[in-house]
Amino acid sequence: MLLEVRDLQVEFHTRDGVARAVNGVSYAVDAGETLAVLGESGSGKSVTAQAVMGILDMPPGRITGGQVLFQGRDLLRLKEEQRRRIRGAEMAMIFQDALSSLNPVLTVGAQLGEMFIVHRGMSRKQARAKAVELMDRVRIPAARERVDDYPHQFSGGMRQRIMIAMALALEPSLIIADEPTTALDVTVQAQVMDLLAELRRELNMGLILITHDLGVVADVADRIAVMYAGRIVETAPVYEIYRAPAHPYTRGLLRSIPRLDQKGRELYAIKGLPPNLLRIPPGCAFNPRCPMAQDVCRTEVPPLFEVAEAPGAAEGRRSACYFWEETLHG
Ligand SMILES: Nc1ncnc2c1ncn2[C@@H]1O[C@H](COP(=O)(O)OP(=O)(O)OP(=O)(O)O)[C@@H](O)[C@H]1O
Ligand code: SF4
Ligand SMILES: [Mg+2]
Repeated sequence: MLLEVRDLQVEFHTRDGVARAVNGVSYAVDAGETLAVLGESGSGKSVTAQAVMGILDMPPGRITGGQVLFQGRDLLRLKEEQRRRIRGAEMAMIFQDALSSLNPVLTVGAQLGEMFIVHRGMSRKQARAKAVELMDRVRIPAARERVDDYPHQFSGGMRQRIMIAMALALEPSLIIADEPTTALDVTVQAQVMDLLAELRRELNMGLILITHDLGVVADVADRIAVMYAGRIVETAPVYEIYRAPAHPYTRGLLRSIPRLDQKGRELYAIKGLPPNLLRIPPGCAFNPRCPMAQDVCRTEVPPLFEVAEAPGAAEGRRSACYFWEETLHG
């Protein structure tokens, strides 16, 4: 396994108390595989990713438990210097906002080239050629002419391609893309997502794709992990989730996707708001919003049950709901 996160726990110490942002998250992604991490704002998707990458703000953040096994090594036990060597070279991250992640006063070619000068000891000229090659690879038209342009001279979609190029520069084996297309308009979103999927295949990388949009993951992800209040509430191969969700929260998310064949119909919305992490409700954190909640849901935290459906059903399908069976068949 390329990456295995085991029982990760992260807290934030704030003036108002301890916010438990990640409460025992486990997930895994293999080479050539795409895992989509899904959930509403504040569910802990980014914090989990930051802990994996080693870029969590500490303090106020604190990793209080768990392991992050990357190619078998527990990254949480490495020294910062060792982690720095892994970051960028072996695992890289793509963020939502390219404009604030790129340096506005350096040309795109200089920023891409820098990776090769610093990490590969190349000359300026060699690095520039590499930059052009990367820009070609992420399909930026007229790369040779545009290599000396500045970030603001590119459109949003092209800037996001440059971010992808930066992440790919050293050919890492794992990429974490945190809402990589959220800031783009819908057609450009699809193009950037397709590009990412294609490069992932070409380079046989593992990809963790963080999103709150279940609509974008159908074509690109292999597996989905759905997060709620710092926990994974359902995980399964993507086609199984679309066919029949086994958690009421996932079902709510699926129902709130706009569908072309149901134009004009009012969009479903999950009632209520995600919990305040300083005061996560006892029992199942989703219970105040759940249409299926029973007494047990208000007192006992549901574990991740193995969803054993029909014989031969996909392995490793899990749901943190006492009533996963009713949900699945309901
Ligand atoms: N620097 C911080 N200081 C205090 N609390 C933080 C900090 N960063 C994150 N948190 C807490 O962790 C929770 C999870 O944040 P996270 O960024 O992982 O959410 P997310 O699922 O990525 O949401 P979004 O979809 O909005 O990006 C937040 O609700 C917040 O309470
Ligand atoms: S455990 Fe209960 S409250 Fe939680 S999702 Fe299942 S039915 Fe709803
Ligand atoms: Mg986030």
